[in-house]
Amino acid sequence: MKKLRMIFFTLLILSIFHQVVSDVHQPLSKVAIHNTVFALNQGSSIKATPNLLGLKGQTTEWVTLRYSTPNPKIDDWIGVFSPANFSASTCPAENTLVNPPFLCSAPIKFQYANFSSHNYKNTGKGSLKLQLINQRSDFSFALFTGGLANPKLVAVSNKVSFLNPNAPVYPRLAQGKTWDEITVTWTSGYGISDAEPFVEWGRKEGKLVQSPAGTLTFDRNTMCGAPARTVGWRDPGYIHTSFLKELWPNKEYTYKLGHRLVNGTTVWSQEYQFKSSPYPGQNSVQRVVIFGDMGKAEADGSNEYNNFQPGSLNTTNQIIQDLNDIDVVFHIGDLCYANGYLSQWDQFTAQIEPIASKVPYMTASGNHERDWPGSGSFYGTLDSGGESGVLAQTMFYVPAENREKFWYSIDYDRNVDQVEVGLEIGPKPRVWRVYQRKRGKGNVNNDVA
Ligand SMILES: [Fe+2]
Repeated sequence: MKKLRMIFFTLLILSIFHQVVSDVHQPLSKVAIHNTVFALNQGSSIKATPNLLGLKGQTTEWVTLRYSTPNPKIDDWIGVFSPANFSASTCPAENTLVNPPFLCSAPIKFQYANFSSHNYKNTGKGSLKLQLINQRSDFSFALFTGGLANPKLVAVSNKVSFLNPNAPVYPRLAQGKTWDEITVTWTSGYGISDAEPFVEWGRKEGKLVQSPAGTLTFDRNTMCGAPARTVGWRDPGYIHTSFLKELWPNKEYTYKLGHRLVNGTTVWSQEYQFKSSPYPGQNSVQRVVIFGDMGKAEADGSNEYNNFQPGSLNTTNQIIQDLNDIDVVFHIGDLCYANGYLSQWDQFTAQIEPIASKVPYMTASGNHERDWPGSGSFYGTLDSGGESGVLAQTMFYVPAENREKFWYSIDYDRNVDQVEVGLEIGPKPRVWRVYQRKRGKGNVNNDVA
Protein backbone atom coordinates (compact mmCIF):
# COMPACT_ATOMS: atom_id res chain seq x y z
CA MET A 1 0.00 0.00 0.00
CA LYS A 2 2.85 2.33 0.98
CA LYS A 3 4.49 1.49 -2.32
CA LEU A 4 1.25 2.24 -4.13
CA ARG A 5 0.99 5.56 -2.34
CA MET A 6 4.54 6.39 -3.34
CA ILE A 7 3.76 5.58 -7.00
CA PHE A 8 0.60 7.68 -6.88
CA PHE A 9 2.46 10.57 -5.25
CA THR A 10 5.25 10.38 -7.83
CA LEU A 11 2.72 10.34 -10.68
CA LEU A 12 0.96 13.34 -9.16
CA ILE A 13 4.20 15.32 -8.89
CA LEU A 14 5.13 14.33 -12.44
CA SER A 15 1.75 15.34 -13.82
CA ILE A 16 1.88 18.72 -12.05
CA PHE A 17 5.40 19.26 -13.33
CA HIS A 18 4.33 18.27 -16.83
CA GLN A 19 1.40 20.66 -16.69
CA VAL A 20 3.64 23.52 -15.66
CA VAL A 21 6.21 22.72 -18.32
CA SER A 22 3.63 22.33 -21.08
CA ASP A 23 1.89 25.61 -20.31
CA VAL A 24 4.82 27.98 -20.32
CA HIS A 25 4.04 29.14 -23.85
CA GLN A 26 0.62 30.58 -23.10
CA PRO A 27 0.57 33.80 -21.07
CA LEU A 28 -3.04 33.19 -20.04
CA SER A 29 -1.92 30.09 -18.16
CA LYS A 30 -0.18 32.38 -15.64
CA VAL A 31 -3.55 33.59 -14.41
CA ALA A 32 -4.56 31.36 -11.50
CA ILE A 33 -8.23 32.01 -12.15
CA HIS A 34 -9.23 29.13 -9.88
CA ASN A 35 -7.68 30.95 -6.92
CA THR A 36 -9.73 34.09 -7.43
CA VAL A 37 -11.57 35.50 -4.46
CA PHE A 38 -14.14 38.27 -4.49
CA ALA A 39 -13.07 41.46 -2.77
CA LEU A 40 -15.44 43.89 -4.45
CA ASN A 41 -15.28 47.21 -2.65
CA GLN A 42 -17.23 50.39 -3.00
CA GLY A 43 -14.13 52.52 -3.35
CA SER A 44 -12.91 50.76 -6.50
CA SER A 45 -14.35 51.25 -9.95
CA ILE A 46 -13.65 50.55 -13.60
CA LYS A 47 -15.52 52.00 -16.56
CA ALA A 48 -15.29 51.24 -20.26
CA THR A 49 -16.26 53.53 -23.17
CA PRO A 50 -17.88 53.35 -25.63
CA ASN A 51 -20.58 50.82 -24.76
CA LEU A 52 -21.43 49.91 -28.30
CA LEU A 53 -18.87 48.97 -30.95
CA GLY A 54 -18.97 48.26 -34.68
CA LEU A 55 -21.59 50.89 -35.50
CA LYS A 56 -20.24 51.08 -39.06
CA GLY A 57 -19.78 47.33 -39.41
CA GLN A 58 -16.21 47.29 -38.06
CA THR A 59 -15.03 44.02 -36.53
CA THR A 60 -12.17 45.61 -34.57
CA GLU A 61 -12.44 48.62 -32.25
CA TRP A 62 -10.62 50.31 -29.39
CA VAL A 63 -12.11 50.94 -25.97
CA THR A 64 -10.83 53.18 -23.18
CA LEU A 65 -10.84 52.00 -19.58
CA ARG A 66 -10.74 54.35 -16.60
CA TYR A 67 -10.30 52.86 -13.15
CA SER A 68 -9.47 53.73 -9.58
CA THR A 69 -8.88 51.89 -6.32
CA PRO A 70 -7.92 53.02 -2.80
CA ASN A 71 -5.16 50.39 -2.36
CA PRO A 72 -3.21 50.26 -5.62
CA LYS A 73 -0.44 47.69 -6.00
CA ILE A 74 2.21 47.37 -8.63
CA ASP A 75 0.88 44.00 -9.84
CA ASP A 76 -2.79 44.98 -10.07
CA TRP A 77 -4.16 43.87 -13.39
CA ILE A 78 -7.16 44.09 -15.66
CA GLY A 79 -8.76 41.04 -17.23
CA VAL A 80 -10.98 41.22 -20.30
CA PHE A 81 -13.82 38.73 -20.06
CA SER A 82 -16.17 37.60 -22.81
CA PRO A 83 -19.02 36.75 -22.34
CA ALA A 84 -19.36 39.70 -19.95
CA ASN A 85 -20.95 37.53 -17.27
CA PHE A 86 -17.93 35.53 -16.16
CA SER A 87 -19.17 34.38 -12.78
CA ALA A 88 -18.98 30.69 -11.92
CA SER A 89 -22.73 30.39 -12.41
CA THR A 90 -22.10 30.24 -16.15
CA CYS A 91 -20.08 27.01 -16.08
CA PRO A 92 -21.17 23.84 -14.36
CA ALA A 93 -18.69 21.88 -12.28
CA GLU A 94 -17.39 18.74 -13.99
CA ASN A 95 -17.62 16.85 -10.75
CA THR A 96 -20.40 17.50 -8.22
CA LEU A 97 -18.14 16.47 -5.33
CA VAL A 98 -15.82 19.38 -6.04
CA ASN A 99 -16.69 22.95 -5.11
CA PRO A 100 -16.62 25.07 -8.25
CA PRO A 101 -14.18 27.99 -8.24
CA PHE A 102 -15.48 31.55 -7.90
CA LEU A 103 -14.50 32.12 -11.50
CA CYS A 104 -14.27 29.39 -14.05
CA SER A 105 -13.29 31.11 -17.27
CA ALA A 106 -9.96 32.66 -18.11
CA PRO A 107 -9.86 36.24 -19.37
CA ILE A 108 -9.53 36.53 -23.13
CA LYS A 109 -6.57 38.81 -22.45
CA PHE A 110 -5.14 40.91 -19.64
CA GLN A 111 -2.91 43.87 -18.92
CA TYR A 112 -1.31 45.41 -15.83
CA ALA A 113 -3.13 48.42 -14.41
CA ASN A 114 0.02 50.57 -14.54
CA PHE A 115 0.81 49.68 -18.19
CA SER A 116 0.11 53.17 -19.49
CA SER A 117 -0.48 54.94 -16.16
CA HIS A 118 2.92 55.11 -14.49
CA ASN A 119 1.56 56.98 -11.47
CA TYR A 120 -1.07 54.32 -10.76
CA LYS A 121 0.78 52.94 -7.73
CA ASN A 122 0.73 56.37 -6.06
CA THR A 123 -2.63 57.72 -7.17
CA GLY A 124 -4.71 54.55 -7.58
CA LYS A 125 -6.04 56.01 -10.80
CA GLY A 126 -5.33 54.81 -14.31
CA SER A 127 -6.52 54.48 -17.85
CA LEU A 128 -5.84 51.96 -20.56
CA LYS A 129 -6.71 51.57 -24.23
CA LEU A 130 -7.52 48.06 -25.41
CA GLN A 131 -8.41 46.68 -28.80
CA LEU A 132 -11.38 44.34 -29.06
CA ILE A 133 -12.46 42.16 -31.94
CA ASN A 134 -15.97 40.90 -32.61
CA GLN A 135 -16.02 37.48 -30.93
CA ARG A 136 -19.77 36.73 -30.85
CA SER A 137 -20.34 37.93 -27.31
CA ASP A 138 -20.23 40.95 -25.02
CA PHE A 139 -17.27 42.02 -22.89
CA SER A 140 -16.56 43.22 -19.38
CA PHE A 141 -13.37 44.37 -17.71
CA ALA A 142 -12.35 43.39 -14.22
CA LEU A 143 -9.78 45.00 -11.93
CA PHE A 144 -7.80 42.54 -9.83
CA THR A 145 -5.31 42.98 -7.05
CA GLY A 146 -3.09 40.21 -5.68
CA GLY A 147 -1.18 39.71 -8.93
CA LEU A 148 -1.85 36.86 -11.32
CA ALA A 149 -1.19 34.12 -8.78
CA ASN A 150 -3.74 35.16 -6.11
CA PRO A 151 -6.27 37.30 -7.95
CA LYS A 152 -8.73 39.29 -5.85
CA LEU A 153 -11.54 40.78 -7.87
CA VAL A 154 -12.11 44.38 -6.72
CA ALA A 155 -14.22 45.95 -9.50
CA VAL A 156 -16.15 44.97 -12.61
CA SER A 157 -16.98 47.35 -15.47
CA ASN A 158 -20.08 48.02 -17.49
CA LYS A 159 -20.72 45.72 -20.44
CA VAL A 160 -19.48 46.52 -23.92
CA SER A 161 -20.68 44.82 -27.08
CA PHE A 162 -20.54 44.95 -30.85
CA LEU A 163 -23.70 46.05 -32.62
CA ASN A 164 -24.08 42.58 -34.16
CA PRO A 165 -22.02 40.06 -32.19
CA ASN A 166 -23.16 37.25 -34.53
CA ALA A 167 -21.90 38.93 -37.71
CA PRO A 168 -19.93 36.80 -40.22
CA VAL A 169 -16.23 37.53 -39.72
CA TYR A 170 -12.62 36.62 -40.54
CA PRO A 171 -12.87 34.73 -43.87
CA ARG A 172 -9.95 32.44 -44.68
CA LEU A 173 -9.43 31.03 -48.15
CA ALA A 174 -7.96 27.64 -48.96
CA GLN A 175 -7.23 25.95 -52.24
CA GLY A 176 -9.80 23.23 -52.88
CA LYS A 177 -9.34 19.63 -54.01
CA THR A 178 -8.95 20.71 -57.64
CA TRP A 179 -7.03 23.59 -59.17
CA ASP A 180 -10.21 25.49 -60.10
CA GLU A 181 -11.83 25.41 -56.67
CA ILE A 182 -11.31 27.72 -53.73
CA THR A 183 -12.95 27.39 -50.34
CA VAL A 184 -14.04 30.17 -48.00
CA THR A 185 -14.23 29.41 -44.29
CA TRP A 186 -15.51 31.94 -41.76
CA THR A 187 -16.96 32.28 -38.27
CA SER A 188 -20.34 33.59 -37.12
CA GLY A 189 -22.83 33.36 -34.31
CA TYR A 190 -25.56 31.90 -36.55
CA GLY A 191 -26.30 28.20 -36.17
CA ILE A 192 -28.03 26.06 -38.79
CA SER A 193 -31.48 26.76 -37.36
CA ASP A 194 -30.86 30.54 -37.21
CA ALA A 195 -29.87 31.29 -40.79
CA GLU A 196 -28.68 29.93 -44.15
CA PRO A 197 -24.99 30.66 -44.65
CA PHE A 198 -23.73 31.36 -48.17
CA VAL A 199 -21.13 33.23 -50.20
CA GLU A 200 -22.15 35.66 -52.93
CA TRP A 201 -19.35 35.79 -55.44
CA GLY A 202 -18.29 36.23 -59.04
CA ARG A 203 -15.85 37.78 -61.50
CA LYS A 204 -15.28 41.40 -60.67
CA GLU A 205 -16.99 42.66 -63.78
CA GLY A 206 -19.47 39.78 -64.09
CA LYS A 207 -22.63 38.32 -62.67
CA LEU A 208 -22.71 37.28 -59.00
CA VAL A 209 -23.88 33.85 -57.86
CA GLN A 210 -24.58 32.41 -54.42
CA SER A 211 -22.96 29.20 -53.13
CA PRO A 212 -24.19 27.46 -49.99
CA ALA A 213 -21.95 26.81 -47.00
CA GLY A 214 -21.77 23.97 -44.52
CA THR A 215 -21.68 24.66 -40.78
CA LEU A 216 -19.58 23.07 -38.03
CA THR A 217 -19.35 23.57 -34.31
CA PHE A 218 -18.43 21.54 -31.24
CA ASP A 219 -19.07 21.57 -27.53
CA ARG A 220 -16.94 21.50 -24.41
CA ASN A 221 -17.08 17.69 -24.21
CA THR A 222 -15.23 17.48 -27.51
CA MET A 223 -12.15 18.81 -25.75
CA CYS A 224 -9.78 16.24 -24.29
CA GLY A 225 -8.77 18.04 -21.10
CA ALA A 226 -7.71 21.21 -19.33
CA PRO A 227 -7.50 24.05 -19.99
CA ALA A 228 -9.56 23.63 -23.22
CA ARG A 229 -12.25 21.77 -21.30
CA THR A 230 -12.10 23.98 -18.19
CA VAL A 231 -10.98 27.60 -17.78
CA GLY A 232 -9.85 27.92 -21.40
CA TRP A 233 -13.18 26.85 -22.90
CA ARG A 234 -15.11 29.45 -24.84
CA ASP A 235 -18.02 28.78 -27.18
CA PRO A 236 -16.48 28.59 -30.68
CA GLY A 237 -19.63 29.82 -32.44
CA TYR A 238 -20.24 28.41 -35.92
CA ILE A 239 -17.65 27.80 -38.58
CA HIS A 240 -18.89 27.79 -42.16
CA THR A 241 -17.22 26.62 -45.36
CA SER A 242 -18.38 27.30 -48.91
CA PHE A 243 -16.88 25.78 -52.06
CA LEU A 244 -16.45 28.14 -55.01
CA LYS A 245 -16.05 25.95 -58.10
CA GLU A 246 -15.23 26.12 -61.80
CA LEU A 247 -13.07 29.19 -61.43
CA TRP A 248 -11.44 30.72 -64.46
CA PRO A 249 -7.66 30.70 -64.25
CA ASN A 250 -5.89 33.90 -63.10
CA LYS A 251 -8.99 36.02 -62.66
CA GLU A 252 -9.97 38.56 -60.05
CA TYR A 253 -13.03 37.56 -58.04
CA THR A 254 -15.06 39.39 -55.47
CA TYR A 255 -17.04 37.80 -52.62
CA LYS A 256 -19.21 38.56 -49.61
CA LEU A 257 -20.35 36.34 -46.73
CA GLY A 258 -24.08 36.20 -46.11
CA HIS A 259 -26.56 34.75 -43.63
CA ARG A 260 -30.20 34.62 -44.70
CA LEU A 261 -32.12 34.83 -41.42
CA VAL A 262 -35.37 33.03 -40.71
CA ASN A 263 -37.21 36.38 -40.92
CA GLY A 264 -36.05 36.79 -44.51
CA THR A 265 -33.43 39.50 -43.97
CA THR A 266 -29.80 38.91 -44.88
CA VAL A 267 -26.78 39.83 -42.78
CA TRP A 268 -23.74 40.64 -44.93
CA SER A 269 -20.03 40.89 -44.32
CA GLN A 270 -17.88 43.45 -46.04
CA GLU A 271 -16.68 42.68 -49.57
CA TYR A 272 -13.41 40.81 -50.22
CA GLN A 273 -11.32 39.92 -53.27
CA PHE A 274 -9.08 37.10 -54.43
CA LYS A 275 -7.33 35.97 -57.59
CA SER A 276 -7.91 32.43 -58.83
CA SER A 277 -5.02 30.04 -59.36
CA PRO A 278 -3.40 29.46 -62.78
CA TYR A 279 -4.31 26.51 -64.99
CA PRO A 280 -1.88 23.65 -64.23
CA GLY A 281 0.83 23.60 -66.88
CA GLN A 282 0.33 27.21 -67.81
CA ASN A 283 3.49 29.26 -68.11
CA SER A 284 3.45 31.40 -64.99
CA VAL A 285 5.35 32.34 -61.86
CA GLN A 286 4.04 31.65 -58.38
CA ARG A 287 5.26 33.25 -55.20
CA VAL A 288 4.78 31.12 -52.13
CA VAL A 289 5.41 32.02 -48.50
CA ILE A 290 6.03 29.13 -46.10
CA PHE A 291 6.50 29.39 -42.36
CA GLY A 292 5.53 27.77 -39.07
CA ASP A 293 5.40 28.65 -35.38
CA MET A 294 4.04 32.15 -35.86
CA GLY A 295 1.61 32.55 -32.99
CA LYS A 296 -0.46 35.64 -32.36
CA ALA A 297 -0.13 38.87 -30.43
CA GLU A 298 -2.29 41.78 -29.39
CA ALA A 299 -1.75 45.15 -31.05
CA ASP A 300 -2.54 46.88 -27.75
CA GLY A 301 0.34 45.07 -26.02
CA SER A 302 -1.88 43.05 -23.71
CA ASN A 303 -1.53 39.37 -22.89
CA GLU A 304 2.16 39.36 -23.74
CA TYR A 305 3.91 40.09 -20.48
CA ASN A 306 6.52 37.42 -21.10
CA ASN A 307 7.08 38.86 -24.55
CA PHE A 308 6.51 35.55 -26.23
CA GLN A 309 4.91 36.28 -29.59
CA PRO A 310 5.21 39.98 -30.49
CA GLY A 311 7.16 38.96 -33.60
CA SER A 312 3.99 37.44 -35.02
CA LEU A 313 2.65 40.94 -35.61
CA ASN A 314 5.79 41.84 -37.57
CA THR A 315 5.39 38.70 -39.69
CA THR A 316 1.70 39.37 -40.31
CA ASN A 317 2.30 43.04 -41.15
CA GLN A 318 5.18 42.24 -43.50
CA ILE A 319 3.11 39.68 -45.40
CA ILE A 320 0.24 42.16 -45.65
CA GLN A 321 2.65 44.74 -47.04
CA ASP A 322 3.97 42.27 -49.63
CA LEU A 323 0.61 40.68 -50.38
CA ASN A 324 0.42 41.89 -53.98
CA ASP A 325 3.50 39.76 -54.65
CA ILE A 326 2.28 36.62 -52.87
CA ASP A 327 0.02 33.92 -54.35
CA VAL A 328 -0.23 31.33 -51.56
CA VAL A 329 0.68 31.16 -47.88
CA PHE A 330 1.55 27.96 -46.04
CA HIS A 331 1.45 28.08 -42.25
CA ILE A 332 2.79 24.64 -41.53
CA GLY A 333 1.83 24.10 -37.91
CA ASP A 334 1.91 25.77 -34.51
CA LEU A 335 -0.59 28.28 -35.77
CA CYS A 336 -1.61 30.47 -32.83
CA TYR A 337 -0.38 28.65 -29.70
CA ALA A 338 -3.82 28.93 -28.15
CA ASN A 339 -2.83 25.87 -26.12
CA GLY A 340 -6.37 25.27 -24.94
CA TYR A 341 -7.47 28.92 -24.50
CA LEU A 342 -10.08 28.97 -27.26
CA SER A 343 -10.60 32.76 -27.39
CA GLN A 344 -7.17 32.96 -28.99
CA TRP A 345 -8.37 31.29 -32.19
CA ASP A 346 -10.77 34.13 -32.97
CA GLN A 347 -8.03 36.63 -32.27
CA PHE A 348 -5.66 34.73 -34.54
CA THR A 349 -8.13 34.58 -37.43
CA ALA A 350 -8.72 38.33 -36.96
CA GLN A 351 -4.96 38.99 -37.06
CA ILE A 352 -4.44 37.10 -40.33
CA GLU A 353 -7.70 38.19 -41.97
CA PRO A 354 -6.09 40.70 -44.35
CA ILE A 355 -3.93 37.81 -45.68
CA ALA A 356 -6.25 34.82 -45.45
CA SER A 357 -9.22 36.64 -46.99
CA LYS A 358 -7.17 37.41 -50.12
CA VAL A 359 -4.85 34.45 -50.82
CA PRO A 360 -5.19 30.75 -49.90
CA TYR A 361 -3.96 30.31 -46.32
CA MET A 362 -3.00 26.64 -46.20
CA THR A 363 -2.50 25.18 -42.75
CA ALA A 364 -0.94 22.07 -41.31
CA SER A 365 -1.07 20.72 -37.80
CA GLY A 366 1.72 21.04 -35.25
CA ASN A 367 2.20 19.72 -31.75
CA HIS A 368 0.46 22.78 -30.33
CA GLU A 369 -2.62 21.93 -32.36
CA ARG A 370 -2.71 18.20 -31.83
CA ASP A 371 -0.69 16.68 -29.00
CA TRP A 372 -2.53 15.17 -26.04
CA PRO A 373 -1.83 11.94 -24.15
CA GLY A 374 -3.85 8.95 -25.32
CA SER A 375 -5.56 10.88 -28.13
CA GLY A 376 -3.71 9.29 -31.04
CA SER A 377 -1.23 12.14 -31.48
CA PHE A 378 2.29 11.20 -32.47
CA TYR A 379 3.69 12.62 -29.24
CA GLY A 380 1.96 12.18 -25.91
CA THR A 381 2.65 15.66 -24.58
CA LEU A 382 0.10 18.19 -23.31
CA ASP A 383 1.08 20.78 -25.94
CA SER A 384 -2.41 21.29 -27.43
CA GLY A 385 -3.85 22.17 -24.01
CA GLY A 386 -6.63 19.62 -24.53
CA GLU A 387 -7.63 20.82 -28.02
CA SER A 388 -6.35 17.63 -29.68
CA GLY A 389 -6.59 19.13 -33.16
CA VAL A 390 -10.32 19.95 -32.99
CA LEU A 391 -9.80 23.69 -33.27
CA ALA A 392 -7.25 23.50 -36.08
CA GLN A 393 -9.30 21.15 -38.23
CA THR A 394 -12.55 23.06 -37.68
CA MET A 395 -11.34 26.65 -37.93
CA PHE A 396 -9.43 25.99 -41.19
CA TYR A 397 -10.36 23.95 -44.23
CA VAL A 398 -7.71 21.78 -45.88
CA PRO A 399 -8.36 19.58 -48.92
CA ALA A 400 -7.45 16.38 -47.09
CA GLU A 401 -9.39 13.15 -47.39
CA ASN A 402 -9.48 13.03 -43.61
CA ARG A 403 -9.14 16.43 -42.00
CA GLU A 404 -8.02 14.87 -38.74
CA LYS A 405 -4.83 13.74 -40.45
CA PHE A 406 -3.95 16.92 -42.30
CA TRP A 407 -2.13 15.15 -45.13
CA TYR A 408 -2.90 16.68 -48.48
CA SER A 409 -1.45 18.15 -51.63
CA ILE A 410 -2.57 20.96 -53.87
CA ASP A 411 -1.89 21.79 -57.50
CA TYR A 412 -0.63 25.28 -58.11
CA ASP A 413 1.07 26.10 -61.44
CA ARG A 414 2.85 23.82 -63.92
CA ASN A 415 6.01 22.90 -62.03
CA VAL A 416 5.38 22.76 -58.36
CA ASP A 417 3.24 20.47 -56.27
CA GLN A 418 3.32 21.78 -52.77
CA VAL A 419 3.22 18.80 -50.51
CA GLU A 420 2.77 19.27 -46.84
CA VAL A 421 3.22 16.88 -44.00
CA GLY A 422 2.00 17.62 -40.50
CA LEU A 423 4.74 19.33 -38.57
CA GLU A 424 5.91 17.35 -35.57
CA ILE A 425 3.12 14.77 -35.75
CA GLY A 426 4.03 12.65 -38.74
CA PRO A 427 6.24 9.58 -38.80
CA LYS A 428 9.14 11.91 -39.62
CA PRO A 429 8.66 14.70 -37.14
CA ARG A 430 9.51 18.28 -38.09
CA VAL A 431 9.74 17.43 -41.78
CA TRP A 432 7.94 19.31 -44.46
CA ARG A 433 8.75 19.72 -48.08
CA VAL A 434 7.99 21.41 -51.33
CA TYR A 435 8.93 19.26 -54.25
CA GLN A 436 9.11 19.75 -57.93
CA ARG A 437 7.54 17.23 -60.20
CA LYS A 438 8.52 17.15 -63.84
CA ARG A 439 5.22 16.00 -65.15
CA GLY A 440 6.34 15.07 -68.65
CA LYS A 441 8.87 12.51 -67.52
CA GLY A 442 7.13 11.48 -64.32
CA ASN A 443 10.35 12.34 -62.58
CA VAL A 444 10.28 13.59 -59.01
CA ASN A 445 12.90 15.78 -57.37
CA ASN A 446 12.57 16.10 -53.68
CA ASP A 447 13.91 19.23 -52.08
CA VAL A 448 13.51 18.89 -48.37
CA ALA A 449 13.59 22.30 -46.71
FE1 LIG B 1 6.58 25.62 -32.27
